[in-house]
Parts: sequence; C-alpha cells; structure tokens
Amino acid sequence: MKALLLSGGEGTRLRPFTLTTPKPMLPVANVPLISRQFELLKKHNVDEVIVSVGYKAEYFKSCVAPLAEKAGLKIHLCVENTPLGTGGGLRNAYSLFRKAPSPFFVFNGDIISDLNLEKMLEIHKNAGACATIALVKVSNPSAYGLVLTDADMKIKKFIEKPKPEEIVTDAINAGVYVFSPEIFDAIPPDRPVSLERAVFPYLLESGKKFMGYVHYGYWIDAGTVEKYKKANFDMVKGGLLTGENTVLKEGVKTVGKAIIGENCSVGRGVLLQNSVILNNSVIKDGCIVSDSVIGNEVLIGNKSEIRGAAIADKSLINSYSLITGG
Ligand code: GDD
Ligand code: MG
Repeated sequence: MKALLLSGGEGTRLRPFTLTTPKPMLPVANVPLISRQFELLKKHNVDEVIVSVGYKAEYFKSCVAPLAEKAGLKIHLCVENTPLGTGGGLRNAYSLFRKAPSPFFVFNGDIISDLNLEKMLEIHKNAGACATIALVKVSNPSAYGLVLTDADMKIKKFIEKPKPEEIVTDAINAGVYVFSPEIFDAIPPDRPVSLERAVFPYLLESGKKFMGYVHYGYWIDAGTVEKYKKANFDMVKGGLLTGENTVLKEGVKTVGKAIIGENCSVGRGVLLQNSVILNNSVIKDGCIVSDSVIGNEVLIGNKSEIRGAAIADKSLINSYSLITGG
C-alpha cells in the first residue's frame, strides 16, 4: 500500500529553524519528524512512500532515502518546481498511483500521531468513500480545518481556518486522509490547488462520499515553534534526552524537560528548563536556557540567559547576554 507525504511547504511558523532545515526533516526528540511518520506507516502495512517536496527539495534528495529505507519503506521523491499547494502536490504524483489504482494515505508533513491507519482504511472501504479524513477534537479549531459530520460520520461541511462565528464543533482535520483513486478526477493538473479550500468543498458540492474518522489518541501538528517544543517534550518519558557525543559538564541542572541533540557541549552549572537544543551547539558555563529552542551550531557564551526564545542555526551569542522572547 502507498502513502504520500505533503512535505513541500516553507514552514514559515517554524522559522528560523525551517530557513535551514525543511520542517519534516527537523528532529523531534532527536528523530527526524518524517521518520516518525515513516514508522507509523510501516506499522500499518504501508510499504511504499511518495514524498511530495518543493521548498528545499535538495535537502530531501540528500538524506531522506536512507531514512525511508531504515523504516523498511520504498521511497519516491516527487518534486515541484513551483509550489502547487496540498492538492496540486498530490496531483503532481498521479503517475505513481495510476498503475495500481487502490486507496492510499496522504499525510500533512508535520503531523505526529498514533492513528490506527488500518481501522481508518477499513472504514473508508466499508463506506465505499471517495475520501476519508481523520478528525481530532481540539479546544480551539481556528488554526485548523473545521469538519462537520452527521450522525453517520458523513462530512457535511469543511471550513479551513474558520472565523470565530463559524466554530460550531470541536472536530478538526487531522491532516491525514485516505483517498480512492477517483480523487484525481477532482484535482486539475499543473496548477496550484488546495485540498482544503478547493478539493474538499468540491467533493461536498458534487455529492461524493466523504467520511470522517475520529481519532482519540495522540496527535500534534508540530508546525509552530510552541507546538514543535511540545512535540519534543511529548516524545520523551524522562526529563532529559541527550544525543550521541553530547557532553554535559559538572553541575548541569534540568527542570521540566531538556532535549539535546548530537555533538553538543553544555557547560558547568548550566540550567536547562523546558528547552530543545539541536545538534552541534555549545552552551558555555553558567547559562540559563528556559522555554527555548536553540538551533544547530549555536555558540552561547558564559553566563548568558535565554528565555522563551528561538535561536537560529549558527548564532553566536556573547557572554552575559540576556535574550527573551515574546
Ligand atoms: N507538496 C507541497 N506543495 N506540500 C505543501 C505545499 C505545497 O505547495 N504547501 C503546503 N504543503 C504541505 C506542508 O509542508 C505541510 O506538511 C502540509 O502541506 C500542510 O501545510 P501546513 O502549512 O502545515 O497547514 P496547516 O497546519 O496550516 O493546516 C493544515 O493542517 C491542519 C492539521 O494540522 C490543514 O490541512 C488543516 O485543515 C488541518 O486542520
Ligand atoms: Mg501544519
């Protein structure tokens, strides 16, 4: 069975980190986000994955194949020269689905979940649906696609980024779909198309069978700095996670969660609180880092305080600096 991962967005809400690393390749608790998706797909009998890329396609070309192979998946990269949106990205991969037409999964590239994909597929097939969307319940749907269903879980309305007065349910699009091959008839080729703003409303207008499947387990869209931090923290049981070749000097203290990548050095007496540090960074003696994400190859001089900040890759922060975020 096949799955397509929509991984072509710029990840603007995860800047500065996505200026150097595309969102799906960012580590979440020291494992690339995309590898976490590969693992879920493999667990549910997917054996072939198509990664739809545009922004920083070269980055994917250089390192995604070994990650897929490690998970036991066959991989194809499908590259867009200009952004085609979520629907256009899928349509662009049509040739890879045409030969063996059967239902397949599509994932947004920033979702981590423990969705039961087989169950979802079964519901899709039993309903004879054209499309089935995984739904999750959230307290504030405004940043997502709102999905209204009837008692039989047929989708009645889809509103992307609803206005406050449009919020009449807590169920949102989890960014995971099962599509039957007829979905390709609903997407015009070679131009930008949004699944959420064009294809889903079209399915509703044309009376296609369009189902919702509610997921009650773990789910997060790691696409903002806050949610990225939370996703990291959610993935570790204890308070501290360190990558290979990372050295913590005497007296390092952690409060809450601290996730440190590979080849880092954390100096004497440093306090790390609810923070994520990516790879190859150095934090000198006596620093305090709290509620922050520190990028790759950052150097923070002695006795600096970094609070609530997102520090870009390769930043050099002088000793005794005080950096506080919004
Ligand atoms: N190939 C390709 N081409 N992929 C794209 C493009 C494009 O032009 N634009 C965006 N994507 C990918 C992104 O890389 C991301 O993985 C996915 O599409 C969704 O884009 P986001 O920018 O993360 O969307 P969102 O979080 O605001 O909203 C989406 O996800 C929510 C769930 O987290 C929507 O699908 C909502 O309806 C949904 O609730
Ligand atoms: Mg997102």
